[in-house]
Amino acid sequence: MKALINTALATVVAVVIFVIARNTLEIQDRPQVNNCFGECYATYLAENGTIAEQARAAREAAAAASPADLGKALFVTCAACHGADGAGGIGPQLNARDAAFVTQALTAYKNNETRGAQSAMMWGVAAGLSDADIENLATFVESL
Ligand code: HEC
Repeated sequence: MKALINTALATVVAVVIFVIARNTLEIQDRPQVNNCFGECYATYLAENGTIAEQARAAREAAAAASPADLGKALFVTCAACHGADGAGGIGPQLNARDAAFVTQALTAYKNNETRGAQSAMMWGVAAGLSDADIENLATFVESL
């Protein structure tokens, strides 16, 4: 009897999870995107341009963006530990720091150097940053 109740409960839980997941994913009436051709595709092109044009526009937008804007976009990944406004959290407060300090710190972490006791947390983060990324982040952090 107990096994039967457990099985019934497990089934109910599974169904509830399935229904929630299905609603969250919105797969019931997802629009068909793979049958846009002819007039539909012409309209899409007129509104968005070709893939090559979209890529060029994105490149131009990135080239036109200021270092602080580019740094701001990168800082999204830092905000989890340093706070959206750089006020600190898991990582130290950054919003009082100038660009030179941030550049020096990030470059050191990128070279796997130990600065504080928790430097290892920054090694992985800094490893993925280019010199240009570091400059942009430093400019943005100084503006905080
Ligand atoms: C997983 C959490 C985490 C993430 C993500 C993270 N940091 Fe850090 N950060 C830390 C910790 C912890 C320290 C202190 C490290 C130490 O002890 O040397 C630190 C230190 C720093 C320092 C030196 C601060 C000081 O006062 O010496 C700078 C600058 C810095 N982080 C910038 C960044 C930037 C820019 C990003 C995003 C690209 C970033 N961090 C992402 C946790 C993080």
